[in-house]
Amino acid sequence: MAEDLTIAQGTKEDQYQSLLPQIKGLLEGENDLIANLANVSAALKEQFNWLWVGFYLVKEDQLVVGPFQGPVACTRIRKGKGVCGTSWEKAQTFIVPDVEAFPGHIACSSLSKSEIVVPIILDGKVFGVLDADSEQLNRFDETDQYYLEKILALIPF
Ligand code: SME
Repeated sequence: MAEDLTIAQGTKEDQYQSLLPQIKGLLEGENDLIANLANVSAALKEQFNWLWVGFYLVKEDQLVVGPFQGPVACTRIRKGKGVCGTSWEKAQTFIVPDVEAFPGHIACSSLSKSEIVVPIILDGKVFGVLDADSEQLNRFDETDQYYLEKILALIPF
């Protein structure tokens, strides 16, 4: 397992293309969930330097914050609340170019301007979500969705 991440320059696509095999390497032979979610969060944070990136996991009737990188965040989110709770309820990815325009957005940090939330679906049920927040407006698009979904598919849940 490589312990140092090589940070790529270039387009967003170039950056994900460089990151993907490195994340694959980090996860290889390891099936501890917390360890893997922690390293995936750290790798994404190192490459993209987003404000916040990490996981919320479904625990009974709420999302509970899991491994993440960035400022402290809301611990629990109810189904249907905020971008994360909506992604859970609808089992869909949400790309939010301007968080202030998203009804019910939960502002864990006033610095967050845009956000993407990708659900983790196992056996037809949402197991949790990957959430990323940026200080820039309109930071996330379908390229992020495509690659974040690919990264999630590498994690042995
Ligand atoms: N903004 C999210 C809450 C989680 S934090 O951004 C880390 C939401 O509206 O669900």
